[in-house]
Amino acid sequence: MNRQSTIISLAERVTHSPEETVLFGREIAVHLQPPCLVLLEGDLGAGKTTLVKGIVAGLGAASEDEVTSPSFTLVHEYGSAGSVYHADLYRIEGARDLATLGLEDLSNRATTVLVEWGEKLGDNAPTPCVKIRMEHLGSDDRRIRIERVEG
Ligand SMILES: Nc1ncnc2c1ncn2[C@@H]1O[C@H](COP(=O)(O)OP(=O)(O)O)[C@@H](O)[C@H]1O
Ligand SMILES: [Mg+2]
Repeated sequence: MNRQSTIISLAERVTHSPEETVLFGREIAVHLQPPCLVLLEGDLGAGKTTLVKGIVAGLGAASEDEVTSPSFTLVHEYGSAGSVYHADLYRIEGARDLATLGLEDLSNRATTVLVEWGEKLGDNAPTPCVKIRMEHLGSDDRRIRIERVEG
């Protein structure tokens, strides 16, 4: 990411169940204006895919149940017009850029691109419109921080 980027904290929420995280994802979706790149950071089990279920459902691109982890396939596409892309870079070795994932030019279209393990893009990442950091606090508690990135 561009070092001159300005990070603005938008919201912070602690959820206590997967259902609550899905609902928060739906709330987030209301505020996303495509084209938009959303980078999700956080350890395995932090709840990234669970949150994406709510975001994709909130965008009206698919039902929650249709959203599954793309950790093997790398990218899932939702919506009849391919309006939402969901990628998971967990299995990617080293820094790769969006172009090598077939996600090039998406930021110029009316698409929302949701990337789990977005930190793996390293300096190859285009400036996202939103960054979401998720943290496992213990048992079913997850802290979710939403940041807007400008610049
Ligand atoms: N508050 C919560 N928010 C999200 N997931 C939760 C929560 N509490 C428990 N979980 C469980 O944690 C796991 C999160 O998995 P997942 O969303 O796939 O994480 P990630 O994509 O970050 O690896 C799921 O099994 C889910 O049921
Ligand atoms: Mg996941």
